[in-house]
Amino acid sequence: MDPKKPAEAIKEAAGAVVSKAASLLEPTVPGVPAPEPPSLEEPTQPRGPLPPKPDQDGPQTRTATGAETGAPKTAVGPQGAHLTTADGLRLRDTDHSLKAGPRGPTLMQDHHLREKITHFDHERIPERVVHARGSAAHGVFVGYGTATPVCRAGFLAEGVETPVFVRFSTVLGSRGSADTVRDTRGFATKFYTEEGTFDLVGNNIPVFFIQDGIKFPDVVHAAKPHPDREIPQAQSAHDTFWDFVSLHTEAQHHTLWNMSDRGIPRSFRMMEGFGVHTFRLTDADGGTSLVKFHWKPRLGVHSLTWEEAQLLGGIDPDFHRRDLADAIEAGARPEWELGIQVFPDTPAQTFEGIDLLDPTKIVPEELAPVQPIGRMTLTHNPTNFFAETEQVAFHVGHLVPGVDVTDDPLLQARLFSYLDTQLTRLGGPNFKQIPINRPHAPVNDMLRDGFHYDAVPGGVAPYRPNSLDGGCPFVAGADEHAFVEAPVRIPDSAKVREAPASFADHFSQARLFWRSMSPVEQQHIVLAYTFELGKCYEQAIKERQLRALANIDAELCDRVAAGLGLPAPEASEPQADVAPSPALSQVGGEWPTEGRMVGIVVDADDPGSLEGLPTLRSAVFAAGGVPLVVAGHGGLVGDGVAVQRTFATGRSVELDALLLAGAPGPAADAIPSRDVKAGAASLGVDPRVRLLVEECFRHAKAIGAWGPGVEALTAGGATEGDAGVVVGNDGETVLAEVMGLLGSHRAWQRFPA
Ligand code: HEM
Repeated sequence: MDPKKPAEAIKEAAGAVVSKAASLLEPTVPGVPAPEPPSLEEPTQPRGPLPPKPDQDGPQTRTATGAETGAPKTAVGPQGAHLTTADGLRLRDTDHSLKAGPRGPTLMQDHHLREKITHFDHERIPERVVHARGSAAHGVFVGYGTATPVCRAGFLAEGVETPVFVRFSTVLGSRGSADTVRDTRGFATKFYTEEGTFDLVGNNIPVFFIQDGIKFPDVVHAAKPHPDREIPQAQSAHDTFWDFVSLHTEAQHHTLWNMSDRGIPRSFRMMEGFGVHTFRLTDADGGTSLVKFHWKPRLGVHSLTWEEAQLLGGIDPDFHRRDLADAIEAGARPEWELGIQVFPDTPAQTFEGIDLLDPTKIVPEELAPVQPIGRMTLTHNPTNFFAETEQVAFHVGHLVPGVDVTDDPLLQARLFSYLDTQLTRLGGPNFKQIPINRPHAPVNDMLRDGFHYDAVPGGVAPYRPNSLDGGCPFVAGADEHAFVEAPVRIPDSAKVREAPASFADHFSQARLFWRSMSPVEQQHIVLAYTFELGKCYEQAIKERQLRALANIDAELCDRVAAGLGLPAPEASEPQADVAPSPALSQVGGEWPTEGRMVGIVVDADDPGSLEGLPTLRSAVFAAGGVPLVVAGHGGLVGDGVAVQRTFATGRSVELDALLLAGAPGPAADAIPSRDVKAGAASLGVDPRVRLLVEECFRHAKAIGAWGPGVEALTAGGATEGDAGVVVGNDGETVLAEVMGLLGSHRAWQRFPA
């Protein structure tokens, strides 16, 4: 008889189960909330703050003026084992306010209550006007040196390693909106170079809605929720958006990209990034070139299906945020190659007839190949979301010697907008002294004072020229890493509010994009337009947008019109014949499968289904994937293998591939009134497992089955011989084939041509 009290014995037994589960989970499934597992009881022994998790990192500990401090990164976090006030006074109680007797009233003199509540009352800062929803990671960029012939920037020289902080975002939604909405994604990179901070503030789409920044408030107001009801959140499927883009037809090219699969990426790790504008690079001799920047993801470009995106909006609104953090935690470090398309810097600033100052135009890669110039690897998750991801401030005007802007009128307005908006968002002019924004180059800016000034400047002469501070600071010569604007000749001109004539072509490149898509991608585009316009209330807006589609491509217009039940109009403009650009399609490649989620459905009551499960999990890890065991109940199955998802908590949309090791019958909770996925009560395989198979099949994911799992496959409507379906004798053989299929992202043949 156990001498301990029953409750203690149960706790001890539970603790043993938990630690056994943890030991069996090597390597672990990502998502661990803290660096060490919590105790069941509240800890009472004073100890210092826990270190960050191994996957996390913070900004370097620099002073506000860029000097290395040598302090550990934890030096900027909480210190000491005891709770204190903001002034370091140790506190004995933070649970009760100071009252006149236990029943009050509360005393005004309670300085701790006032400090705690006052600070809490001011915890929020304004969210970004656009790109409010985002997530970020730290990493490193290594230059190849291949850009050196055209660019003198030190960080692009061969082998130079530069720390980076990258923030991915949606454009339209508020901070708490869902990740998988149809939208453009921001892709903003801060390079902390030794010559100053360089920001490449780009998107995952290479063109923009407008050609002149003065229209930015218009397009954003049209795309944001209607001002009266404030709906819909984070999406373009509404009247004001389509009203604007159908009238302002220069937006049609970007809109077409948004309606394509690029508008619903599978992961931030699987997006291309684009600087969008043309930039001007300067070489060591002062020679200039025009370039466009491209980020190419090592994992290839991959997207969700629209149904997956919609389901995820409810099932896991943090899908992209979680995916990025989990991948880094699991060691699947996201990587991109930075590349440039290089064009001669001619007075016309055109290439092959394409106006390089028009941000609604691309230069097809077939005309100007993307030349790799460096590699970026994201290595760590931020330690604190607010301090880093929220307070980071990007600006297209953060340039380094060798990289300069062009006269693209969209870029010109951006050069004003970022600093201006950050003055409000970050509460004054000194936000560059916030740790995540501190440069890694020495700062001597003579800017002084203001709210939250963190530097402590010495000297008495923050002006130039001076003699009292010995003349310091001095301006640098061009050979001393000074930024010198390229002396570009400005054509003889008059002040006008006009656009160049070449900006008037709004449709030819939209047609180029449409014609470059595979049949599956074209079908997705048609469905996206049909969905979005179908959500508009006003008939006139739908008809007007159909007119724009007619000018892009008659077939596209016909198919969308058919879906809307409207007549297809004729084109009103002559249609240029354009050559497709195969580089724009995301179908047909083979890519690494690191960090992909593989569901393994088991039958907890069938030993045959659980046989070899630990080895199979290890094999998924070894293949770079993350295994999620899915069973009828939580806890442990078989020989102590932990279950990550039950039939109630799991859903196909978080998986990239599905393995069926069993055909579990209906679990105890397979009751429609409790779990909507349970559907009609049925015998045979649990209805939620059937749904899992059906959805994975419908979304063209690789599915593997063996032994009793084959019955689950059939119950979900799939069979051996279907494209992307693997049936074999054992789990490991099936897994090898499934991971191979995952390399092409989806079983594309399953989509009707
Ligand atoms: C090529 C066109 C554009 C691209 C690629 C672009 C990209 C981005 C990105 C990636 C962000 C998010 C930065 C972050 O993660 O913090 C952002 C934010 C922002 N953008 Fe743009 N943008 C474009 C055009 C414009 C224009 C034309 C304006 C205004 C004239 C503008 C104003 C803003 C503002 C105000 C923010 C919020 C910045 C903050 O609060 O820190 N953008 N943009």
